[in-house]
Amino acid sequence: MIGVPGAAGTRRARLAGLGYYVPDRRLTNADLEEIVDTTDEWIVSRTGIRERRIVAPDQATSDLAIRAAENILESSGCTAEELDVLIVPTCTPDHLFPSVAALTANAIGAHGAAAFDIQAACSGFIYGLAQAVALIESGLADKILVVGAEVFSRIVNPNDRSTFVLFGDGAAGALVVGDGDGGPSGFVGFELGADGSKGSQLQIPVGGTRHPASEAFDEADAYLQMNGREVFKFATRVMEESVVHLLDHLGLTIGDIDLMVPHQANQRIIDHAVGRLGIDSARVFGNLDRYGNTSAASIPLALAEARDAGVLTAGMRVMMVGFGAGLTWAACLVRYEPT
Ligand code: ACO
Repeated sequence: MIGVPGAAGTRRARLAGLGYYVPDRRLTNADLEEIVDTTDEWIVSRTGIRERRIVAPDQATSDLAIRAAENILESSGCTAEELDVLIVPTCTPDHLFPSVAALTANAIGAHGAAAFDIQAACSGFIYGLAQAVALIESGLADKILVVGAEVFSRIVNPNDRSTFVLFGDGAAGALVVGDGDGGPSGFVGFELGADGSKGSQLQIPVGGTRHPASEAFDEADAYLQMNGREVFKFATRVMEESVVHLLDHLGLTIGDIDLMVPHQANQRIIDHAVGRLGIDSARVFGNLDRYGNTSAASIPLALAEARDAGVLTAGMRVMMVGFGAGLTWAACLVRYEPT
């Protein structure tokens, strides 16, 4: 990518394309009953999840990101050579470095693109969109791919049934492009937030610079650890509050949202937010039952499936909202304007 901020005149960013890739292997709740001390009834009633996708032994996060990136480009009529930037929101990268984005850009042939990862866990896709909009509307870039990609099956502890059943693997994202028509941004508004004081509620203690994997450690500390009840309380609060804050800031109401696509973590969290916001559940799209929580991939995976189902159509105003490790949260109201 090469550019000068402001040099392109008035640019507006728009959400031009969507796509995804999920691994073939399905892990059902019945399969989980064979692995951990759980039941289909417990998982469905406490989370809403019925099955999730799991990577093949030779697949890592970038393998999913590559397939999703190719799917987005193909369905949008855009080529890899045209990309200025490739952003990969992920908290399960192949390695601490190189980034998943750099590996993905190379594999798809986006050789002129800047490439970097964003680490905001399940809020990462919306954080990535905000970054894309800023780069485009400042005139620095014109075509950006944002691909959330995660392989949580490699970081959940098989001895911890309360987290093992929640997550799935997948990748999904969006193409964001610049138009010079001088109209308002296709991205109506964002709220992004983080509260590191609650960081330890959802963490992997080992593997970074605080506790390097080169030193002795308990095996459990190399896996995801979560205080489920605290994260649940946080999630139900911020899912509602961030939508309300953003609508208030924009001078809009719930009636101005055509479709809501919340982070797919737990059906009870979604139902709570939907009930408190008073939005008709017919205007809320989800696919949690089939994929579990795919973290940074969950919102774009639901968006892409909403498009495929004819639920998301051109011109609709979509409210995305999510939360995740950090702890972080994010909301975005966007007009869907496919190429
Ligand atoms: N199967 C059967 N029983 C289980 C299971 C399981 N898989 N997991 C926990 N239980 C048991 C517990 O041991 C406990 O038993 P006890 O009463 O005998 O002690 C009982 O079920 C209730 O446990 P709770 O933790 O109170 O269950 P809760 O209803 O809170 O549900 C859950 C747990 C699903 C994890 C919930 O707290 C939750 O969804 N929290 C939010 C998680 C989340 O969305 N995280 C997002 C992460 S996003 C990111 O950035 C990675």
